[in-house]
Amino acid sequence: MAGDKLNFRFSEDLMLFKNNYKIVNSPWVNKIYSGQDPNSQDLLDHLHIIHNRHAGFTEKIATNCCDLDGKNSYELLLDTVDPSTHRDILDLACGSGVLLEYCDKHFPFNLKLSGVDMNDSELKLARTRLLNKDINFYNAKAQELGFIGDSSKDVIFCHWALTLMDPIIPVLKTIKRILKNQGVFSAIVDGDPNSAIGYSDIHNIIYKFVQKIFPNYGLLELGDPRVRSLKTLNELVKKVFHDCEVKITSHVLSFKQKPIVLAKEVSGFFYASLVLSSKHYSILVSELADYFKNISVDGLGEFNLPVNRLIVKKPSKLCSLKK
Ligand SMILES: C[S@@+](CC[C@H](N)C(=O)[O-])C[C@H]1O[C@@H](n2cnc3c(N)ncnc32)[C@H](O)[C@@H]1O
Repeated sequence: MAGDKLNFRFSEDLMLFKNNYKIVNSPWVNKIYSGQDPNSQDLLDHLHIIHNRHAGFTEKIATNCCDLDGKNSYELLLDTVDPSTHRDILDLACGSGVLLEYCDKHFPFNLKLSGVDMNDSELKLARTRLLNKDINFYNAKAQELGFIGDSSKDVIFCHWALTLMDPIIPVLKTIKRILKNQGVFSAIVDGDPNSAIGYSDIHNIIYKFVQKIFPNYGLLELGDPRVRSLKTLNELVKKVFHDCEVKITSHVLSFKQKPIVLAKEVSGFFYASLVLSSKHYSILVSELADYFKNISVDGLGEFNLPVNRLIVKKPSKLCSLKK
């Protein structure tokens, strides 16, 4: 854990701390703060609080960070669709609906599109974005998709959300159940922080800053940690999709901008920064702006984002559902 810990006497100081700094007050935050283990419900509550305050926060960085071919992570998922056979597409944890909009624009044939998310503020943005489009949205948890029929989806996407889900096994089992034979499940998750130049520096600036105010932050990440590394993700997915083709590829996506613009967008992409009060958030943004200024070339800083793309193909013969 990074240095400069503040020594709070827990109960009194926590009250003082909250009153003065108005950090995000969620059960997940409070338990981490007091050294307890948050449970799945704490995680869901925390995510709701963050997404209610900052709905749509993922899309800015995610649309702007591109690989050498100019593709962002939404477009990397579009590449996994087979336009000759796939029709029924579900975006799981669709957030503000960006990926569904890409699908609607990108594929010139009749698709059946639907989106699931547990957060109403995100779904509101998605519905507004895709007004007058024939898209079904459902407010549901990824762990509770009993209303979706077996073998009914050709494609299931999950963009930047699998990392947040805990428990994860029921989600993977459900995806397997609702995916058609010859269907594809593809997801974007965190990549190896050391694979993208400067990413660890930025991660450390943000986490060290948050830890000055909130000492235990980062001891426990959101979601199931196995999703965060290629090796453990591969093992986890193969446990459930044991008779399917599983492939994970690593990508680095880059975004160049003026240091202050980059600092604002990058800080807004990390869940860690979003627990800060507005006062502390502004200080963090200026620290990041200094960082991007120091590395800038011709007035532009660069952010490199490591991602892993998971692709699971279900064979034409049914995978065993009893796993
Ligand atoms: C980082 S955002 C990504 C949103 C969108 N996929 C995108 O990339 O633009 C994560 C989304 O996952 C949703 N989410 C997290 N856990 C979930 C769960 N267990 N079930 C359903 N949605 C979940 C959140 O509500 C949020 O909209």
